[in-house]
Amino acid sequence: MNADIQRRRRAAADAVLGDRRSMPPRGDAEAFAPANIALVKYWGKRDAALNLPVTGSLSVSLGDAGTRTAIRPADRDSLRMNVNLIDPAAPAARRVSEFLDLVRPSSAAGFAVETVNSVPTAAGVASSASGFAALVRALDGLYGWDLNPAEMSVLARLGSGSACRSLWDGFVEWIPGTDSEGADSRGAPIDVRWPELRIGVWVLDDAPKAVASREGMRRTVETSPLYPAWPAVVARDLIEVRQAVAGRDLERLGRVAEGNALAMHATAIAARPSALYWRPESVAAMARITALRAGGMPVWFTLDAGPNLKLIFEAASGAALTREIPALRSLAPFG
Ligand code: DP6
Repeated sequence: MNADIQRRRRAAADAVLGDRRSMPPRGDAEAFAPANIALVKYWGKRDAALNLPVTGSLSVSLGDAGTRTAIRPADRDSLRMNVNLIDPAAPAARRVSEFLDLVRPSSAAGFAVETVNSVPTAAGVASSASGFAALVRALDGLYGWDLNPAEMSVLARLGSGSACRSLWDGFVEWIPGTDSEGADSRGAPIDVRWPELRIGVWVLDDAPKAVASREGMRRTVETSPLYPAWPAVVARDLIEVRQAVAGRDLERLGRVAEGNALAMHATAIAARPSALYWRPESVAAMARITALRAGGMPVWFTLDAGPNLKLIFEAASGAALTREIPALRSLAPFG
């Protein structure tokens, strides 16, 4: 990471931490944060160093599906994920260390980090969002910073953009903000409970993706002839999803979320070279959901930067849907 980027990131963390930086660690700490699925997607950055988005986005957190993280001071950084010790040179470990650089009291200080995902990483639910949110909560406990969720959201965003939405349960909107250093770019919870809502994870392919979401996003912004249309799509979809959430209107929510995901993928597919995340199985699965819906089943899909589908439905359809799709793993965002 170049020095100028690192300086800006550290300054952004300083703006949140202020003189808390001099506080000593308390021993060790542990925290949990939920994974989240975007109903209106974050796709494209206006500032890659600070993970500042081009547009807003809106997600639902996945209840008790997420990441539990323990942290303690150590001589050097180490990362254990689901009991496996990760090679410090591997991308996941480097990303965590680069994030810890933002809060490290001195360059000599290290941290031992252990994370456990309650949804298998291979289940196609992003672990970076819950991972960085849980890491920020664990650091807050370790140092006793006592940051509020909004402050933690700003910090988590520096680890992974979508992590800024994982500091709350339920529906969360990421307010893109206008500040050049990102002080106002953070999650904001929406005060609506929807106990019947379900998110189904349908894993079609658990191989690592060919194009990481970070790279796919960059390529789309820089080269896709369709990207200029994206901000207007999001602006419209955000208005409609807010209304669908407020009215707990499943059909409206499903329709917008599905359309938004397809529009996101359209921009990515048109990038040069293409960021095509779909497998033949993904396309067949989308057709299957469309057919089920035509047959009267209220179910919609969304896809992130990968080949797997996430289904949007209500508890009343759960049994029938699992009969149709035995591999479906159903998650209850509101417990
Ligand atoms: C398709 O948050 O993983 O899941 O900010 O580069 O870490 P970075 O990207 P990340 O991107 C998530 C993209 C998405 C849509 C979404 O979650 O909104």
